Parts: sequence; structure tokens; C-alpha cells
Amino acid sequence: MPGLVCILDFGAQYSQLIARRIRELGIYSEILPHDTPWSALDRRKPQAIVLTGGPESTLAPEAPDVDAAILRSGVPVLGICYGMQLLARHLGGELVKLDRAEYGPAVLHVDVPASPLLAKVPSASRVWMSHGDSVASLPDGFAALASTERCTVAAMGDAARRLYGVQFHPEVAHTEHGRTILANFLRDIAEVPADWEMGSFIERSIDEIRALIGTGRAICALSGGVDSAVAATLVARAVGEQLTCIFVDHGLLRKDEAEQVVAAFRDVLHLDVRVVDARERFLEALAGVEDPERKRIIIGHEFIRIFEEQALAISGARFLVQGTLYPDVIESKTPQSKVGHKIKSHHNVGGLPEQMNLALLEPLRALFKDEVRELGRALGLPEAIVRRQPFPGPGLAVRIVGDVTPERLRIVREADAIVRDEIDAASLDPHPWQYFAVLTPVRSVGVMGDGRTYANLVAVRAITSEDGMTADWARLPADLLERISTRIVNEVSGVNRVAYDITSKPPATVEWE
Ligand code: XMP
Repeated sequence: MPGLVCILDFGAQYSQLIARRIRELGIYSEILPHDTPWSALDRRKPQAIVLTGGPESTLAPEAPDVDAAILRSGVPVLGICYGMQLLARHLGGELVKLDRAEYGPAVLHVDVPASPLLAKVPSASRVWMSHGDSVASLPDGFAALASTERCTVAAMGDAARRLYGVQFHPEVAHTEHGRTILANFLRDIAEVPADWEMGSFIERSIDEIRALIGTGRAICALSGGVDSAVAATLVARAVGEQLTCIFVDHGLLRKDEAEQVVAAFRDVLHLDVRVVDARERFLEALAGVEDPERKRIIIGHEFIRIFEEQALAISGARFLVQGTLYPDVIESKTPQSKVGHKIKSHHNVGGLPEQMNLALLEPLRALFKDEVRELGRALGLPEAIVRRQPFPGPGLAVRIVGDVTPERLRIVREADAIVRDEIDAASLDPHPWQYFAVLTPVRSVGVMGDGRTYANLVAVRAITSEDGMTADWARLPADLLERISTRIVNEVSGVNRVAYDITSKPPATVEWE
């Protein structure tokens, strides 16, 4: 039987992270609502069940609950945080509210090293805590396996029934041996077969996409970035010619980007790509707009209107494919949902209209960036696309602080090409995650030849990051910065000064707008 872990979601911030950690162990998992009854779970035949954390207190009267039959089913269960407290409450243990909640790092002391849950975990290690209630007395059959200074039952287990609980979060990177604990539970205790790989994700996604689209048609907004490229390729695998890709040239792209993207998609990936030249339309809509949020909203609206116009010309087009990733979902706080729902709020192109006539299909919304790159490779995308650095949907418009004009676009585009050219050619370790030029609204005095200049200031931004959610400025070598600066002032007319941005995120953001 193929390996399957069911994750019952009690509203945890980290449900997708748990799923990701399980994927890293080569095991397939599905996230289901917390109140899924045992009868529905039983039909799926999971070999293990994980109960997630959640924002509520199990002591509250209306606290989200689990079907008690699940705990009697004989399937091994791991309760995490809230999940552990539910286990304790259902099986006859007692909970107390802590005087002071325990948040953040703590030292975990292993009290029962022989427990299979804690095999290979050192006697003391760092874990991440986030709880206001605690298990005060254990249910019958359970032993306390580990503790922290403020939490006497930080892990508990009943080896005979294969029921385990951890108060800390093994799924977060701050828990040093979290992966070992998850592996101990899933591989050694529950013996779930590790038979998941990208190939099986592709197969399952293709089945789901086919069922959803049926005989209808989908359109995909290609941006040239890795996310939309992978999403389009996956959907094309599923429904072939029922997918039409639309590439909107909004005139806010990087140097030569439009030509490169179209060539890659048509000639290498053989996708049906329609190019819409909307350069004038976007420039007109943006004329005189300086406010960053308004720029984003205008661009988002124009984008979506163009897609709708294009979709009208494609009979049966009902779906808009987007390469939204899980970090986008967390950042824009859209509700956890399955594929195929109507857009209500922001998405990764910027602000969207409230009403839209296309249903959204987001096949990557459970994945993280590095997983999308891996998926892209498994789908046979060329490295040049898979390794592209992130580029915002609103394009160079959010890298021109102030008014967007053809002349200012020329300046930022040329400066950006130099920044990328020089950094790409340098061998840096670590290689920055993202690097680009920003055109500031500042003009300053300079001297060129023997004459006075009063020209633009370009800022260079290069950051290191894992996921774009936090970032640090890249410590670029001085000679590389010097080459970039010299080339920009010499080769880009209208610029006489270059500054390097040395701010991390937070407090700044990666993009200037
Ligand atoms: P910020 O500026 O929010 O950027 O720190 C984090 C990462 O997201 C990219 N970014 C965007 N990507 N649409 C996108 O698809 C957008 O509107 C957008 N804004 C920022 C940014 O380049 C960085 O990688």
C-alpha cells in the first residue's frame, strides 16, 4: 500500500510546514480539516496521523476537537502542541493553564532516552515552544519522555498503542532535532513507506487538474519567472492544448526579457503562448502615479483586465492558472483552500479587482520555492528558467521610486542589466539570492569631464535570503561594487551617482516599493 500520512489541521500556522517536512522524508501526506471523522479517514487508509497545533486552548468550551474513534483506531498518532493536549484530554490526562505562556526557544531534556520517539536525540537540545496550556497529569499508559525547565511534559508516549505527543514544534527549523523526531515517529514507529518523490506529486497534480478543468479551457499568466513557468508546464502536462499561455508585455520588464521568455516557452517548452503588447496601455495607466500601492493596484487591475479580454476570445476559458506559492499564501493571509476558488484578495501580481470572471487554479500553493525549482527540474524545464532570480509582478515600476516614464524605465533597465551582468560573472559564496538596480527620485551634483552634472542617483540592492521573507544585504566585495558603479555612471546616461543599499529585511523590504 502506498505511504500516506493524514495531517488533521487545527488551524496551525505551520500545517504546510509539517507537510513539507514529511515530504522531505519521502512520505506523502494530506492535510485535512480537524473534524474529519474516522470513517472518512479510514477510507484513505493512512499509516499515521498527525494532529497539528492550533491557536485555541483545548480548555475552551468550543475548542476544535478530534473524532475520538481516531485515537482508538490503532493507527499511530503524533499530536503536536495543541494536538498533544487533545490526546491528553481525550485519554484521561489533565491540563492546566500556565501562569505565563511559553514562547520561543527552550532546552529539551530527554528523560527516557530509550523511547523510540527520541532515538538519536541528544540529552539536551534546543526546541521551539509556543503554548499557553500544559499537560499536568498523564493519561493511563503514557510516560513523560522529555521536559523543559517550564514544561514537565514536553513529550509523552504510550508505546503499546503507538500514541505520542510533543509540546514543542518539531517542524520548525529552530527545533534542532525536529526532523529526527518526525522521522522516528513516521519511519520507525509507524513504519510508513517512504515512496513519495516529485514524480508522484506530478502524477497526483495532473489527475486533480484534469478532474477540475474537464473539457474546459485554462489560461495562464506567464511572467517569465520560475513559478508561473512551472505552473504552466504542469497544467500543460495535464490538459495539453486546453491551456493557452498569455504573456503580457507591460513594458516593465528587464532588458531583452520579453524576447527571451517568449523564445523559451515557445521553442523549448512548446507551449501555446500569445504575446500581448500592452506597453502603451500600462504607461498611460501609470502616468503621473507616484504612490507605490496605487502603482501595484493599477498594474494588478490592468493585468487581470487583459487576461479577461484574452479569455473572452478563447471559448470555454474558465480557469486562470497562477504560480502562487505557500509563502505568498501566508503573507497575503488568504484562507487555506483547495484549487479552483474565486479570487477575493491580493495575489502575487498585486492588488486584484474584487470581482473576476475566472476561477483561480493554483497548483503550487502548497509548495515552497526550492520545492518548485525541484519540480521544474523534474518536469524538464531548462536550468536558465529554473534558476531565475525572483522578479516582482509589477516589474520595474516598483524599482522606479516616483513617476514611471519611458526615460526612467530606460535608466533603470540599463543599470539593472549591468548589476546582473557583473554579479552573475562573479563567483560569490553565497551567491546573492536577488540583485537589481533601483532608480531613486534623488538628483545630485557631480562633475564629468570638466562640466557640472545634475543627474540621477541609482541604488544597487543585493540580498541573501532563503525564502524572501527575511533577508540580509549581501556583503559584496568592494572591487565588484566598484566595477558596478563605474560601469553604471559611464554607460547609463542620466546617472552620476551610485549608492549601495545596506538594509536588511526587516526593517526594510527587498523591493523599494
Ligand atoms: P518584499 O519587497 O516584499 O519582497 O520584501 C519579497 C520578495 O517578493 C518579491 N516581490 C514580489 N513578487 N509580486 C511578486 O510576484 C509582487 O508584487 C512582489 N513584490 C515583491 C520580491 O522581489 C522579493 O523576492
